[in-house]
Amino acid sequence: MARRALDLAVALGPLRLPNPIGLASGTCGYGAELAGLLDVGRLGCVFTKGLTLAPRDGNAPARIAETEGGTLNRIGLQNVGVEAFLADKLPALAALGVPVVANVAGATAAEYVAIAERLDGAPGLAGLELNVSCPNVDHGGIELGSEPRVLEALVAAVRARTRLALVVKLTPNTGAVGELARAAEAGGADAISAINTVTGLVVTPTLVDGRLSAKAMRGGLSGPAIKPVALRCVAEARAACGLPIVGVGGIMGLGDVLEFLAVGATAVQVGTGTFVEPGLAGRLVDELEDWCEANGIASLRTALEGAGEACV
Ligand SMILES: Cc1cc2nc3c(=O)[nH]c(=O)nc-3n(C[C@H](O)[C@H](O)[C@H](O)COP(=O)(O)O)c2cc1C
Repeated sequence: MARRALDLAVALGPLRLPNPIGLASGTCGYGAELAGLLDVGRLGCVFTKGLTLAPRDGNAPARIAETEGGTLNRIGLQNVGVEAFLADKLPALAALGVPVVANVAGATAAEYVAIAERLDGAPGLAGLELNVSCPNVDHGGIELGSEPRVLEALVAAVRARTRLALVVKLTPNTGAVGELARAAEAGGADAISAINTVTGLVVTPTLVDGRLSAKAMRGGLSGPAIKPVALRCVAEARAACGLPIVGVGGIMGLGDVLEFLAVGATAVQVGTGTFVEPGLAGRLVDELEDWCEANGIASLRTALEGAGEACV
């Protein structure tokens, strides 16, 4: 049966997404890798693996572990670097017809600015997501994204050098999500994404000569275990600033998507869920369409007006 005209489009400032379901940075490579497993062109957006100026190998293994309800990783920003992204990765991804947002990571504010300048105007690129929240590198990232005044200055410096839509990805590992969201807004961001991974520890207890010790791996926790933290952060960001918010953390099904939209997210990203079910994000687009149809919703944007106002 033909569907009624259904408008799932949402906007992150100047960036229009055909629907609110995106793929989260670092969990989908450069997007095109998933092309045989789902119709990437049907998604709302792809957020690429975090890009640095020079290529990086990331941390030595072991760097990923399963936990109850999640995954702990310490990949350490392995990536091809901005030049190889432009030459080898972006054209194939853009050809799939999906809005592309490049996730950007730097060790210093100057590196973020240099990457933003290099990416500005790249054909097929719609926006930048500033990863100021990576817990797995020695310098940059989270250091620049934990202090509101430092974050505002960084966002303003990048804003001055690019016309691309600017999304700022916040850390849950400080108590100040609302303040950070306000700082990003003051610096000129177009949207907030929340959250990056939650710092955690995976431990293997060992007995050596009758004494208990631990083999431990520190990293960022993702997956269903962090969803309540992510929902809390989205609600706090929603209350603190006027920017659209992209919710990310533990999405495994349509119910999770609706929870994020209900607390005030405008769009969402699917991360660890893709490892479990590579076609998950595509299934969620279908299921969101069905849900809108079943509930008589013709425009998702209208249905989201006022959502999340009373959550914190
Ligand atoms: C293996 C792995 C690599 C990641 N790499 C990045 C990255 O490069 N940049 C970034 O901003 N977030 C990165 N993330 C964080 C995710 O984009 C997302 O914020 C987080 O995993 C929470 O969502 P989820 O619970 O749906 O996975 C990574 C996550 C995982 C699991």
